[in-house]
Amino acid sequence: MPDATDFSLADFHLNDNPNVLEPPADYLEWISDPDVRQAFTFFEQQLLTAPRTRSEILSNLDRERRPIINLTSYNYLGLSTHPEVLQAARETLDRYGLSASGAPLVSGTFDLHVELARRLAEFKQKDDCLLFSSGYGGNLGALQGMMRKGDVIAMDERSHKSVIDGATLSGARKVFFAHNDPEDLAAQLEKHRDRRILVVLEGVYSMDGDLCRLPELADVADEYGAGIYIDEAHSTLMFGENGRGVAEHFGMEDRIGVSYGTLSKSFGGVGGFICANARLINYLKGYSSAWNFSCSPSPPVVGGLIKALEVATRDSTLRDRLWTNTEYFRSRLDSMGLDTGDCESQVIPLIIGPSGEKLFRYATAMQKRGLFLQPIDYPAVPAHRRRFRISMSSQLEEEDMDRALNIIEDVIVRDRD
Ligand SMILES: Cc1ncc(COP(=O)(O)O)c(C=O)c1O
Repeated sequence: MPDATDFSLADFHLNDNPNVLEPPADYLEWISDPDVRQAFTFFEQQLLTAPRTRSEILSNLDRERRPIINLTSYNYLGLSTHPEVLQAARETLDRYGLSASGAPLVSGTFDLHVELARRLAEFKQKDDCLLFSSGYGGNLGALQGMMRKGDVIAMDERSHKSVIDGATLSGARKVFFAHNDPEDLAAQLEKHRDRRILVVLEGVYSMDGDLCRLPELADVADEYGAGIYIDEAHSTLMFGENGRGVAEHFGMEDRIGVSYGTLSKSFGGVGGFICANARLINYLKGYSSAWNFSCSPSPPVVGGLIKALEVATRDSTLRDRLWTNTEYFRSRLDSMGLDTGDCESQVIPLIIGPSGEKLFRYATAMQKRGLFLQPIDYPAVPAHRRRFRISMSSQLEEEDMDRALNIIEDVIVRDRD
C-alpha cells in the first residue's frame, strides 16, 4: 500500500474476499499500518466515571488512568447525573427491575412507558408519541414504517446515518439536497412532483452545530405538498423559549408533521421518540419494526427520563447555563482566531483542515494534558475540514473552561503561530 494515511474507512467496504467471515485483504493491510493503528487508538477509550465534565479515562495512548475535562460527551444539561434523575432511576429499578422483558405490543409496555410517551407528546404539543430503545433505531423504525417503495425521502446531504439507513430500509427513493439550501431542495423536489414526499431535516446538524434553515425549507416543502420530519436530537430541551427545540425557536411547530428526538443527549438517558398525529402513531405501531420487534426501553432509564423531562422543563436554569457557557467558550475560541465554522449551538466544531497528521498530533497532546476532545476524521466529515467537535455542557465551571481553553491555545494556536 503506497501511503496508508491516504486511505480511510470509506475505501474498504466493498468486500471481494470469497470468505464472508474475513474482511478484505487490503483492509487488513491498511488497518495494521502503524500510522492507522495510532489513529484508531482514539476510538473506544474507556471512561472510568459518569460522563461528567470532570471525568477520568483509561487512556489508549499509554494505558494510564487520566483525570480529564470531558468536552466530548452529549450530557449537555448534566441530566445523566442529576441527583433527582438518579433517585427516580433507582426507585424505578427497585420496583420494576432492569429490563422490560418484552416488545411493546405484547408484554413490554409498562405504565412508565405510557407515562413518558404521554409527557413527551404533551411537551412537543403533538397528539401522541412512540418510544424506541435507541435513537438510531428510532429513525430507522419511523422512516421504514412511514415510507414505501415509490415514495421519496428528501434529506440534507449532512443527514445523520440513522436517517439515511432508515430511508434505505423503507425502500423509498433517497434524494439528497445541498446542505441547508432551499433552492436545491426545490430543484430536487421538482423532479418528483407526482410522488409522496417526506422532507427530513435536523434541528442542529451534529458535526457543524448549525441550525436548519427551517422557515425557508418548510416553505419549499409546503409548495410541493411534502411532509416535514425534523430530528431534534441535538436541540430538544435546549432551543426555544420552553426548550421544545428548533421548531419552537422559529415559531413553526404547527407546520411540522413529525418531531423526532433522541433520549441519549440532553435527556441524559438512552432511546428515541417520535411525536406526531394520533393516526400516524397508531399506524406505526403496526408497521415500525424497530418498535414492534424490539424490547421496550429499560424501566430505570424510563423512570429517570420522566424526571429528566420534569427537571429540564420546570424552569430554564439548565439551558440558560448551557448558553452562558457556550457563549463564553465560543467567544474565547473566536478571539484566538480558531475556525468554528457556522456554529450556532452548543456543538462547536474546531476545524483543523486537511491534515490528518495535525489532527491526531493535537488530539494526543491535548489528551496528555488532560483534555478529552476526540478527533473527527474523514469520512465522518469532509477530508479538508477535519476537526474536533466540542460538546458544551451546563455542568462546566469557568475554571474548567479556562483550563480547556489554555490547553487548546498551547497545543493548537501555538503550533499555528
Ligand atoms: C441527528 C441524530 N439522530 C439520531 C442519532 C442517534 O441517536 P442515539 O445515539 O441516541 O442512538 C444521532 C446520534 O448522534 C444524531 O446525531
